[in-house]
Amino acid sequence: MNIHPEIGKSSTLPASFYREPAIFEQVKEKVFASSWLYVADRTALDGLNNAHPFTLLPGVLNEPLLLSGDDAGTVRCLSNVCTHRGMLVVEKPGKYPSLRCTYHGRCFHMDGRFKQMPEFEGVEDFPSENDNLTQVPLREWLGMYFVSLNPAFSFEDAIQPIVDRIGWMPLDTLVFEEEGTADYPVAANWALYCDNYLEGFHIPFVHPALNKALDFKQYKYELFPWGSLQLGIAEEGEPCFDIPEGAPDHGKAIYAYYYWLFPNLMLNFYPWGLSLNVVQPLSHDKTLVRFRTYRFRGRPFDRELNVLEKTEMEDEAVVEAVQMGVQSRFYKAGRYSVKQEQAVHHFHRLLSQQLSM
Ligand code: FES
Ligand SMILES: [Fe+2]
Repeated sequence: MNIHPEIGKSSTLPASFYREPAIFEQVKEKVFASSWLYVADRTALDGLNNAHPFTLLPGVLNEPLLLSGDDAGTVRCLSNVCTHRGMLVVEKPGKYPSLRCTYHGRCFHMDGRFKQMPEFEGVEDFPSENDNLTQVPLREWLGMYFVSLNPAFSFEDAIQPIVDRIGWMPLDTLVFEEEGTADYPVAANWALYCDNYLEGFHIPFVHPALNKALDFKQYKYELFPWGSLQLGIAEEGEPCFDIPEGAPDHGKAIYAYYYWLFPNLMLNFYPWGLSLNVVQPLSHDKTLVRFRTYRFRGRPFDRELNVLEKTEMEDEAVVEAVQMGVQSRFYKAGRYSVKQEQAVHHFHRLLSQQLSM
């Protein structure tokens, strides 16, 4: 699975990557357990002293975790597994005075520290550090929560290029919008969905409506250590950002900033706000793509929902057909377009790098 650093000399990921359950097993730990994953946004914790239990990547990582907010408003991510005999501590989201295991009553502070346990007189060296709930690295950005079980890179390093580039947008006004929120099941390996997202090469062939809005000749790719950017330039008369003087892209008619963060997060910024796509693997050949919409408060919400949905359906159809293709006896791997597939190559380089760790 060695991807040559020079795109012009390189072959794409082998077909086995997309179809072998054994390779997917390695991807679980080496890619998903060691990256930063979107889990929820601020709306999940409604007020102080709230707990929000969840499973990190159900069916894949299967890690029971908990977002826990204390009475000062600090939010932490904790292991949701009781340090006594392994019961899940919190089973329902809600407001709690402290975290109390329903099995034998062990109690934890909202920050995960052991608080109290009945019937434990005579137990030596108790409580110890091991009796606290493990704290898991958590970051909040744009009102969204990201966690990592065992981070191989820093979240701040990963997002810095985005912050530097689009810091002029009213990012602190993003609010969740129910409309347009949808989960799309896709019968394909998660990385095929990402591969497809990472090139605009297919736009003229696959997306007739989007192709009318974008000036394909000016479509651009930029790479950064843990992600990439595709710049969509608007055709004459199509909606575009009003970019202030002094901002890096001042003077350009930008239709959308399509950001991708390794391994599975897409942040699509439009003049009306953000369309977030979380590419959640369910197995080696099943994926759930979660769309979440955040609008800029007080800005016109003139989203072309039909173009977004149409584009998604067109992408799904292609990606599912490619899954059939990579299962063929005849397809082994391909080559990259140097001009159009730099971001796909970059993704494959990161995957092969993480898998060789
Ligand atoms: S497992 Fe939680 S108190 Fe026993
Ligand atoms: Fe597409």
